[in-house]
Amino acid sequence: MNRWLGRGINFGNALDALGDGPELPLDAQYFDQVAAAGFDTVRLPVRWSAHAGVAPPYAIDPAFFRRVDAGIGAALDRGLQVVVNVHHYHELCAAPDEQLPRFLALWRQIAARYAGCSGRLCFELLNEPRDHLTAARWNAVLADALAVVRAADPGRTVLVGPAGMNGLDALPALAVPDDGKLIATIHYYAPFEFTHQGAGWVTGAGRWLGRTWGGAADEAAVRADLAEAAAWGRERGLPLFIGEFGAFSAADMASRARWTAFVRTEAERLGMSWAYWEFGTDFGAFDLERAAWREPLRRALLGERAAAAR
Ligand code: BGC
Repeated sequence: MNRWLGRGINFGNALDALGDGPELPLDAQYFDQVAAAGFDTVRLPVRWSAHAGVAPPYAIDPAFFRRVDAGIGAALDRGLQVVVNVHHYHELCAAPDEQLPRFLALWRQIAARYAGCSGRLCFELLNEPRDHLTAARWNAVLADALAVVRAADPGRTVLVGPAGMNGLDALPALAVPDDGKLIATIHYYAPFEFTHQGAGWVTGAGRWLGRTWGGAADEAAVRADLAEAAAWGRERGLPLFIGEFGAFSAADMASRARWTAFVRTEAERLGMSWAYWEFGTDFGAFDLERAAWREPLRRALLGERAAAAR
């Protein structure tokens, strides 16, 4: 399955949107663009917690479920793999004990709904656990969530990432259940002062504007980071997916393209699959206004091959 995940892209700021920034409409044409460019996978972040009851049975809004169905269907119809997660569940990270029943109820509903769906649909238990969801707490919560998924769907590929916002530093503390259908996922945004320069949601990020990326020392740092993650995966016999990596639009395009190409080729060399953050908004590889790829980023991700060789 990890080989099928291959090269992916996030449809970020669509079903996960917080309502405070640019949003991606999930139009059919964007799925066409992704498939035609030669991507294998779409990662579809979903903010279920904003569309479900706050008291038992924590029912997911049927209209929202249909929007997710449509996104999954659009990806599968084009022969893509699709990763659906639980995104931006900040209430769970703030109060894990209180929110656990709701988190499990969300997964019970999601797993039941898609139990008969193509094996090209994968689940990712939770985006970027943080805050009170410490490594130890997260290990217990993820085992519970996986058990809920398995009760409805024993064969589905499930992705699970470490606490600490899926950073690779937290990998050693991740307790991966014995399951056989798991892929480990990490997010890679280092150096953060480069990838998040000018990002409005990061305090002080304005001070990092102008930071460029390239050269032997910068490359060596990325190489060392990813080698560490790869070694962790090898020791445990677990495939790795870089579920998010990308550089914000305020960085200069030449540096963004260099960093993106370097991380991507290094990941592939180490046998990792990946998904770029993100398709069409503030990290966008695709320019919604021009309805065209930003060529330096498209090339960094997919190389010279122009159209699908699926
Ligand atoms: C968040 C986005 C953010 C991105 C890069 C994602 O996990 O959902 O809101 O833009 O990480 O920081």
